[in-house]
Amino acid sequence: MSPAVGGLAAKAKMLYEKLKEPFVGREEEARAILLALLTREHVVLIGEPGTAKSAMARRLAELINARFFKYLLTKYTEPSELFGPLDLRALKEGRYTRITRGKLPEAEIVFLDEVFNANSAILNALLSIMQERVWYDGYSEIRVPLWSLIGATNRVPEDPELEAVYDRFLFRQYARPLPENRWSELLDAGWRLEAGLVEPAKPVVTLDDIAEMNKAIFSVDISPVKPKLLRLFAILEERGIHLTDRRKTKTLKAVAANAFLEGRQRAEERDLIVLKYIAPRDIADFDKVSIVLSEELKMPERFIKELEDIRRNIQEAARHVDSMRSYDPRLIDMFRSLKIAKSRILNILRETDDERVQYLAKETLKSIDELLEKISYKLGM
Ligand SMILES: Nc1ncnc2c1ncn2[C@@H]1O[C@H](COP(=O)(O)OP(=O)(O)OP(=O)(O)O)[C@@H](O)[C@H]1O
Ligand SMILES: [Mg+2]
Repeated sequence: MSPAVGGLAAKAKMLYEKLKEPFVGREEEARAILLALLTREHVVLIGEPGTAKSAMARRLAELINARFFKYLLTKYTEPSELFGPLDLRALKEGRYTRITRGKLPEAEIVFLDEVFNANSAILNALLSIMQERVWYDGYSEIRVPLWSLIGATNRVPEDPELEAVYDRFLFRQYARPLPENRWSELLDAGWRLEAGLVEPAKPVVTLDDIAEMNKAIFSVDISPVKPKLLRLFAILEERGIHLTDRRKTKTLKAVAANAFLEGRQRAEERDLIVLKYIAPRDIADFDKVSIVLSEELKMPERFIKELEDIRRNIQEAARHVDSMRSYDPRLIDMFRSLKIAKSRILNILRETDDERVQYLAKETLKSIDELLEKISYKLGM
């Protein structure tokens, strides 16, 4: 990474850290929001009441220096509440325009709480605003500066009318209530929040910074992960999880954004984890997709676990070797197993450049070589 790009990536990471800071267990939500910003896409947080969806959007508004518009939708919300009232003076002159100051058509980042409560008129406007950044208002076609729309909802929409808007949220995150083992932290976080001990955040990035970041993600090398991504699409489809073509076309830039956020110029298999925000449609899909990804992706954690298992076996074997006599036939079996473990580790080294994995793999290789030498000696090789 060039220093300039590295600086941008560090800023993106800082925004992520700051966004999640006051919340317990909301890392995924923060990542989904960051990915949406980096890719100039939209994100929806789905979850039961009180899971910090609105609080996260409020915090984001503090952290970015941009024009924000926030609104809580009900089924009675009128277009004028979002898009501004009709300009009556202009109407007298025969022009149909709205006074949009401070409203959605002038906002760069928009938060719509309970977004699927929108009525047809609002939904229709949102379709083109989200897709083309164009607002068709009566007779005119107006470009809008919208960068990302963040939606919140208590439920996945079932109504076909809502489907098209739902599909325009490339990122979807299911904000679950925290599990019991985190309730104690939640109490502490709540105490700090309620006592006013959490300072309002100061802006750490501007929208210009985000636009620069967006440019930078397209210089990430995504070629290493393309074949695997295609395979994952096929596996997901087989398990009944269908991605629309829109979502498929946009997946690579999400992968690039994840690599960028991690400070890398080259995508790796683990960046395909972004599919967990892109692939699910229904609530049940979130778990299904996670299972597929944890089975299919070479995540550093998995390698570390595998290497630790191998190390334990080697230590065990080393103890036996010491007490075995020369030419013990079991030594030959051990020799073979160690050779197999060695080639597995060499494969792991080729598959990832994660530093922790590389270190553990090299240490393990050293122990294997020492043991192989000992066995060879006992076998008189
Ligand atoms: N994981 C959490 N960590 C810290 N605070 C939390 C967490 N979850 C909820 N809270 C606190 O609970 C309060 C309610 O959250 P918020 O209003 O954002 O919920 P919501 O998901 O928007 O709910 P609704 O769907 O009803 O709008 C906030 O003050 C928030 O700070
Ligand atoms: Mg809310």
